[in-house]
Amino acid sequence: MINFKKEIANAIAKVTNLDAKDLENYLEIPPNSDLGDYAFPCFKLAKDLRKAPPMIANDIKENIEIDENIIEKIDVVGGYLNIFINKQTLVQTVLKEVAKNKEKYGSSTLGEGKNVVIDYSAPNIAKPFHIGHLRSTVIGGALYKIYNFLGYNSVGINYLGDWGLQFGKVMAGINLWKDEYDFENDEMASILKVYIRFNQEEKENPELTKLARELFKKLEDGEPETVATWEHIRKISLENYEKTYKLLNSKFDSYNGEAYYNDKMDPVVNELKEKGLLKESQGAQVVDLEEYDMPPCIIITSAGTTIYATRDLASLKDRINKYNFDKAIYVVGNEQQLHFKQVFKTLELMGYEEYAKNCVHVPFGLVVDKDGEKIGSRKGNSVFLEDILNEAIDKVKDIINEKNPELEDKDEIARKVGVGAIIFNDLSNSRIKDEIFDWDMLLNFQGETGPYIQYIYVRTKSLLEKAGYTPEIVDVNFSKLSEVEAINTLKLIYQFNDVIKNAADKNEPSILARYLIDLSQSFSTFYNEHKIITEEKDVQNSRLYLTYAVGTVLKTGVELLGMEMPNKM
Ligand code: ARG
Repeated sequence: MINFKKEIANAIAKVTNLDAKDLENYLEIPPNSDLGDYAFPCFKLAKDLRKAPPMIANDIKENIEIDENIIEKIDVVGGYLNIFINKQTLVQTVLKEVAKNKEKYGSSTLGEGKNVVIDYSAPNIAKPFHIGHLRSTVIGGALYKIYNFLGYNSVGINYLGDWGLQFGKVMAGINLWKDEYDFENDEMASILKVYIRFNQEEKENPELTKLARELFKKLEDGEPETVATWEHIRKISLENYEKTYKLLNSKFDSYNGEAYYNDKMDPVVNELKEKGLLKESQGAQVVDLEEYDMPPCIIITSAGTTIYATRDLASLKDRINKYNFDKAIYVVGNEQQLHFKQVFKTLELMGYEEYAKNCVHVPFGLVVDKDGEKIGSRKGNSVFLEDILNEAIDKVKDIINEKNPELEDKDEIARKVGVGAIIFNDLSNSRIKDEIFDWDMLLNFQGETGPYIQYIYVRTKSLLEKAGYTPEIVDVNFSKLSEVEAINTLKLIYQFNDVIKNAADKNEPSILARYLIDLSQSFSTFYNEHKIITEEKDVQNSRLYLTYAVGTVLKTGVELLGMEMPNKM
C-alpha cells in the first residue's frame, strides 16, 4: 500500500535537507478535510532553518517536487502546509490492499520474533469473580489479539489468586454450614455463599477468623486432606470461570498463579540477599526504595512469610527465563499502581534493567452505575460476571422477539450481540476512566455501542446479498468512487493499520473501539447519501466493493476487541 506520509516526508526532506523520519512524525491529520488530508506544521522547523514558519511554508511549496499521483495540491495557511493527496490513488491503493489481504488487512509483521507476555484476568479463587475482573479480562483479551495481529507472539497468563486466607475461610465455612447449602447441585454458588457469609459473621465472631487461620496453616503445611480440598475448590472454580472465558473469547497460555510460585521464592529471596538489596525494617526484610520516593518493597513480613510482591518477583524471573519477553504487560486495576512500581524498580535494582524497562502496568478505572456508585461494592451483593453476561443475552433476546421475531438463529445472535455490547462498553472509553455500566446505554442500537457497529456490519452484508454479488476488484471502476463521503470512508480504511499500532503502543484498545464507531458512522453517512444498488452497474460495483471493504474492516476490528460479528440481526 502506498505510504502517503512517507512520500510527503521524503519530498519535504529533499527541499529542506532534514531527516525524513522526523518530518514524517510531524505530519498531522487536520480535524476537517477542507484543511487537507495531512498538515505539516512548519514551526517545528523554525529552529533548524532559522526562518519564520510562514516563510518556510512558502519556500517548501515553491520548491517541492511533487508527484501528481501522490499529491494533488498544497496550500499554505499561515505556518502550515495543507496537503491534499490524490484521491484516485488513495481509492486504488486501499481497495487493492483489501482485495489482497482480506481479513488480514491491517495486520503486520512488525512484532515478528518478539514475545509479549500479558498478565490479565487473574481472579481470586474462592472469592467471587465480579465485575471488576471483567475489565482486566476484556482489556487484556483485546491486547492479546491486537499484539498477535501485529505479528508479535502474545502469551496470555492468568495469574490466578489461588492461594491465601480465603481458602481457610471457605473451608471453615464448609465445615460449619455444609448442610445449609445445595453443594450437591450447585457447588460453585454454594462456595461463594459460604465465603460471603463467613466474611459477615466473622466480624462479630473472631473465633471464626482463628478457625480460618488454622485451616490455612494446615494447607501451607501440606496436610493431604486440606490440600485435596484446596485442589478441588480450585478445579471447580476454574471450570466455572471457563464458562465466562468462553463467552468472552478469552485465551490463556498459562494458568500459573500465586500457588505455583509458593515453593519457588527462595531463589529470588537469596538473589536479593546476595545482591545486598535486602535490609531489615521493623522485623521485616525489605528493599529500600526511599531514593525513588517509594515506600519499601516488603519481601518477607515480620511474621516470616512471603508476600504478594515476593511472588510477583518470582513469577517475573520465571517469565524472563521462559519467554525472554520483549514486553511484559500487567492489566490490573489502578489501585495496584504502587505495587507494580515497587516490583519493577526492584527488578531493575537486581540488575535486570533491560527487562524492567519493558514491564508495563496497564491500569484501569472502576465500574460504576449511572449515578457514579461503584457496582458490586455492597457486601454480599456482588454482581457476578456470568450473570451479567447472561442478562445481556436475555435482554437482546427480548429486543429481537419484539422487533424481529422471525429471525433465524436467535440464540446465537443474542449471544454475539449481548456479549459484544458488554465488551464494547468496557473498551469504548479510555481505560483509566471509570466505566459507566448502564443497560439502556450499552444496548442502544443507535448509540456509540457494540450493537451499533454490528448493525452497520449486517447492513453491509445485506447490501451485498441484495445485489446477489460477491465483489471482485477487477470489476471496480475506481473513478466512480469520488464523492466526499466515499473518500472519507476510504481514508479511515486506509488508517486501519496505524490505528491498531497506536492502540498497541498505548495499550489502549479504546483507540480501536472509537475508530470502529467512526468508520461505521462514516459508512452510514455514505449510504444515506448515495444509493448503492443503482441502475448504473459501474457505480454499483464500485460502491459494493467499498461496502465489502467496510464490512471486512469492521469484522476484523471487532474480533480484535474480542467480540463476534453476527451475519443477521
Ligand atoms: N489476583 C489479583 C487481584 O485480583 C490480581 C493479580 C494481578 N497480577 C499480578 N501478577 N499481580 O487483585
